[in-house]
Amino acid sequence: MSNLTQEIQKRRTFAIISHPDAGKTTMTEKLLLWGKAIQSAGEVKSRKTDKHATSDWMSMEQERGISITTSVMQFDYNDCVVNLLDTPGHADFGEDTYRTLTAVDSALMVIDGAKGVEERTIKLMEICRMRDTPIISFVNKLDREIQDPLSLLDEIENVLKIKCVPFFWPMGMGQDFVGVYGLFDDKLYLYKKGHGGEIIDIETRDGYDHPDVRERLGELMFNAFTDSLELAQMTAEDWSVEAFLAGEITPVLFGTALGNFGVNMVLDTITKYAPAPQSAPAVERAVLATESEFSGFVFKIQANMDPRHRDRIAFLRICSGKYEKGMKMNHVRLGKEVRISDAVTFLAGDRQALEEAYAGDIIGLHNHGTIQIGDSFTSGEVLNFTGIPHFAPELFRRVVLKDPMKSKQLQKGLQQLSEEGATQVFMPQINNDLILGAVGVLQFEVVAHRLKEEYKVQCSFEPISIATVRWIHCDDKAALEKFKKKAHDQLSIDGGGYLTYLAPSRVNLQLMQERYPEVEFRSTREH
Ligand code: G4P
Repeated sequence: MSNLTQEIQKRRTFAIISHPDAGKTTMTEKLLLWGKAIQSAGEVKSRKTDKHATSDWMSMEQERGISITTSVMQFDYNDCVVNLLDTPGHADFGEDTYRTLTAVDSALMVIDGAKGVEERTIKLMEICRMRDTPIISFVNKLDREIQDPLSLLDEIENVLKIKCVPFFWPMGMGQDFVGVYGLFDDKLYLYKKGHGGEIIDIETRDGYDHPDVRERLGELMFNAFTDSLELAQMTAEDWSVEAFLAGEITPVLFGTALGNFGVNMVLDTITKYAPAPQSAPAVERAVLATESEFSGFVFKIQANMDPRHRDRIAFLRICSGKYEKGMKMNHVRLGKEVRISDAVTFLAGDRQALEEAYAGDIIGLHNHGTIQIGDSFTSGEVLNFTGIPHFAPELFRRVVLKDPMKSKQLQKGLQQLSEEGATQVFMPQINNDLILGAVGVLQFEVVAHRLKEEYKVQCSFEPISIATVRWIHCDDKAALEKFKKKAHDQLSIDGGGYLTYLAPSRVNLQLMQERYPEVEFRSTREH
């Protein structure tokens, strides 16, 4: 195997999907701990103190207790290079999460054992299913009273339509959580309280039937364990790597992220079974990860990620080959060659200058306004990667500036934040208004907050009667001119300079579409 292939085969790129509060942040922290990316837990976050997650870059996240930005973390484990992509948990940031899921090869689903399958998890699973992303499941919070493990598996299977194969089976729960029994290695892994922030050797026993364990659980609970184990063992017989890779079967693990138990088993499972980068679909052809030529696509852009640097970073997932410092890349949409000498990688939030990176890795490119979400970069070939979702805004507000002298700053801020894809700015032709469109209502608050913090501009928002937006395309010049004349009052230019139609109502839009059949009303600005 060539060195390139070896490096690529080592990559495991995944994200965590879960409902808010299921324990994603805690799990992220413990994964980093086991990956030795941090020295002790508590470094990443403790919301009750003023420290915050390394993966949470914005102060707003601390205030709200929601994870807004997506970050990338890389560490070594079991001879693999693990890339963990953090995703925002709040529903209003869904589009960011969706795009992040296009950049991973597998996903870890964290479920609160007491609450079972929750609404956000269902949504995220739907996205994973579109790409048949392999899923590993972790039932969290075993240190509390959880639902009966067998019913939990039933619930996952029925609601999420994925077959569960337990790799481990929990013994006890809450105060009586003894540990988990390995269905494939016939070993009992004992949970020891009070080591949530450090790595300890996990004590194991052969088999599960030991006098002290029986005594600790009591005869009743021990029997309940053996009964349910029998059923779990039968299910475990259905394990198939192929079915897992096809997204049909999910291995299920149990533990407590807070108690730092089960986390290494998650990493063992990911490094052993989760796929290395495979192939990525482009309009032109499918691109194999192990091809020697470099290619990748941008799935996220973040402005002012680090206030100390005040810059905009485009997150690029490498689809094939290798990145080397100083290499020339073809920015496919612009048809332009660019030399990239300052790509960055993200190690638990600290950016580091990057010498090389391989398919599966995420690199950060400095964006000076020329990069858009969905852009492809290659070593020369024209490839347009597909499947990066773009979302049309559904909510619109007029931006009201507090200090009229700052309108330049405001426009710049709105434009730069719009590059991130969660909001879009529109400049109507009829007046000097600035209109902001967003997918979720929380976005407006986020933008107001970030404009204040990052651009020193204070603004508020006013309702405006716009129902939806369409991007206008028309090859017939005369027809376009006729349309532009008639629709003048409803036309605007978006942050990227594209002509858009701001429809006051759906009925109006329909009428316009009927009246101007030559004009295309596109619901997204294509990626
Ligand atoms: P999220 O990112 O998915 O939203 O969840 P997060 O990790 O922030 O966890 C949500 C809450 O659940 C936190 O408590 C966290 O400590 C707790 N938690 C996570 N894993 C476990 C576990 O294995 N067992 C138990 N008992 N609790 C767990 P909080 O009180 O809301 O916040 P904090 O003050 O502890 O940060």
